[in-house]
Amino acid sequence: AERTYIMVKPDGVQRGLVGEVIKRFEQKGYKLVAMKLAMPGEEMLKQHYADLSERSFFPGLITYMNSGPVCCMVWEGRNVVLEGRKMLGATKPADSAMGTIRGDFCVDVGRNVCHGSDSVDSANHEIGLWFPEGIISWDKADASWVLE
Ligand code: GTP
Ligand code: MG
Repeated sequence: AERTYIMVKPDGVQRGLVGEVIKRFEQKGYKLVAMKLAMPGEEMLKQHYADLSERSFFPGLITYMNSGPVCCMVWEGRNVVLEGRKMLGATKPADSAMGTIRGDFCVDVGRNVCHGSDSVDSANHEIGLWFPEGIISWDKADASWVLE
């Protein structure tokens, strides 16, 4: 099954939105297969956002991401990479639809509460980076109530 890496950023943790993010993915019908609270440190965060290292906002992004604990999760289910991105909403909260996490809870791109992998390839890369210990395989009791 497809998996994605979802992370509640330090602002989301500080604002008590971890449960809200989990709730939305649970209610959608996805399966949680890994989760931890972490203080990843600068090196890890620079690896995670390596693609953006040349951007002007990169130093600020790393400072922001390194300012407190993050909640790291892997969610599994049909089209979860793309659907997860839809649930997060557009990067810039001004463009995020109401009903999305960023649309409902954010006003600033530099404090946008959550991260989600942008492709299956980057999901697999990010899951390996954040969960080198591996994920949990388990049978969820409602599987046949979520998928035909
Ligand atoms: P992530 O899920 O966090 O990867 O966001 P994204 O995929 O929607 O956007 P992208 O990967 O392009 O950027 C990563 C993060 O950098 C964003 O979520 C923002 O927190 C931050 N960021 C992106 N663009 C800007 C910008 O123009 N200004 C500032 N201050 N931050 C930005
Ligand atoms: Mg991104």
